[in-house]
Amino acid sequence: MHWKIKASLQKILHFTKIGDQLNHIPATLIKDYHKNVCLYQYYECIRKFEASNIQLATETKKSALEIGTGYSLIAPVILYLLGFETVVTVDISKDVSMKTFQKQIQYLNDDALLQTIVKHGKFSLSEIKEKLTQIQSFKTLEKVVAFCNIIYIPRYTLDAIESTQNSFDYICSQVVFEHIPPAFLQDLFAKMKVWLTEDGRAVHTINFIDHFANPGFFQDKNISEFNFLKYSDATWNFWAGNDIAYTNRLSYLYYLELCEANELTVIDFIGENYRAHHPLPAAAIHEDIIKKYKQLSNVEYVCKYQRGTLIFKK
Ligand SMILES: C[S@@+](CC[C@H](N)C(=O)[O-])C[C@H]1O[C@@H](n2cnc3c(N)ncnc32)[C@H](O)[C@@H]1O
Repeated sequence: MHWKIKASLQKILHFTKIGDQLNHIPATLIKDYHKNVCLYQYYECIRKFEASNIQLATETKKSALEIGTGYSLIAPVILYLLGFETVVTVDISKDVSMKTFQKQIQYLNDDALLQTIVKHGKFSLSEIKEKLTQIQSFKTLEKVVAFCNIIYIPRYTLDAIESTQNSFDYICSQVVFEHIPPAFLQDLFAKMKVWLTEDGRAVHTINFIDHFANPGFFQDKNISEFNFLKYSDATWNFWAGNDIAYTNRLSYLYYLELCEANELTVIDFIGENYRAHHPLPAAAIHEDIIKKYKQLSNVEYVCKYQRGTLIFKK
């Protein structure tokens, strides 16, 4: 389906109050949706935590910040089960619900999954099983977050984060930064420089591709996954400048520039191409895209990776 059809539908939806939820419905109709979400959140949370190299098997009390909770509370719960003392999780919208949580949490009842948490965290298998049983017995989200010491801040501001906690040992996000406009990214990176403890680590997985090329009913199979880089800011803003469709069209190089500008030390950037790769030639990339960077040694590098994980410290 041509990407402009999905873009037009999202433009219409964004005028309604529940546009974002309506936009999310098709994904939830897929068979085993809740199982898949739980396992995806679990594996991605463990993968990023492994990349952080943070040791939790100590007496010290560590805190974590997750940026962009989304629809699932599984990742913050995994961070709690690993042994973080406090987990702050924030989003611009309020999408977590107890109904969804109950449908997803059951899929953590698996010894192999829990053994991996034991391997990386500070609790024994029996302690984790006991905590999980407790979590599953709760009837409200309030009880779950209170038990796990999770502070969920929907519709957050940077000040709201700081009023709960202003120091974090671990800051993570999963496919969120691509949805954040450059000006706010700048503020966020400046804050992460302040918030990270001396031994703290940030691990962020970012998707760099045109979301209209994402799999699903509305996927446009005829475009490069970097199709959106062909357009001016004005044209792209017309089609996708709403809160449902917005992506910032920035590549990994922009995030490396942000680290440099904020004197954050990049430990690693792990770039990935997880599907057929169709980079655009330099001539097809709009000058508005090139202008977003301080320096681009090779314009085609903006199509080098489809996804990546950025690991940095103070
Ligand atoms: C693709 S979802 C990912 C959600 C979750 N991390 C996951 O992996 O399922 C992107 C999320 O980023 C959130 N988001 C957008 N702008 C944000 C911002 N400035 N700060 C934090 N979250 C934001 C959206 O509301 C949405 O929940």
